[in-house]
Amino acid sequence: MRIDVFTLFPGWFDWFSTQRHVRNALGLGHELNLVDLRATTPLKAGQVDDTPYGGGAGMVLRVDVVEAALEARYGPAPPPHRTVALSPGGRQFDDALARELAAEPELTLMCGRYEGFDERVNEHLATDVVSIGPYVLSGGELAAMVVADAVIRKLPGVLGHEDSAVEESFSEALEGAPEYPHYTRPFEWREHEVPDVLLSGDHARIRQWRLEESRRRRRT
Ligand code: ADE
Repeated sequence: MRIDVFTLFPGWFDWFSTQRHVRNALGLGHELNLVDLRATTPLKAGQVDDTPYGGGAGMVLRVDVVEAALEARYGPAPPPHRTVALSPGGRQFDDALARELAAEPELTLMCGRYEGFDERVNEHLATDVVSIGPYVLSGGELAAMVVADAVIRKLPGVLGHEDSAVEESFSEALEGAPEYPHYTRPFEWREHEVPDVLLSGDHARIRQWRLEESRRRRRT
């Protein structure tokens, strides 16, 4: 899979790119590329934003700047693949969308800044407008990392243990419910013991208990 992130702050991804599961993905031949939106701006002095029509606070990322960046990389815009604009007003990101995006061979993530993108970016250059939650971040970079992280860990072979993304919270194996509780040693801690069933060695019972716990968590 190739993930391209368009951002005004590529340096934000330095740390993310060195994390183990991301390095694993790169080692398997996947790509994570950072594209500087300012590098291809058609405006003078590296300008990328402008004041909003109608007045108001803040600056808006220009549609022609985003178009130029996309065209420099892919040819005539919009790109011929899934292109996600990160914005607090978008569709709420969830595990189902992560699964969907992980099945794409190419994914573009576009990070807004300031007051966000000119609406024509969302309408005509992006295939999806995605929010990671109902709060406003200082830019789309952290949101893009959240999306990239959730997508990358779905790629086969990226996590150490092949099963670990199969039976985790919100997975199909758990009927979309949160994951069951986990315990490890010590068996007893401040009078709180590990549930007996987990020491029973009866794998069918353990599976059943875990599924029930997972369903119970969905209800609470
Ligand atoms: N940009 C700023 N806030 C955001 C959010 N909550 N989700 C996605 N992109 C954003």
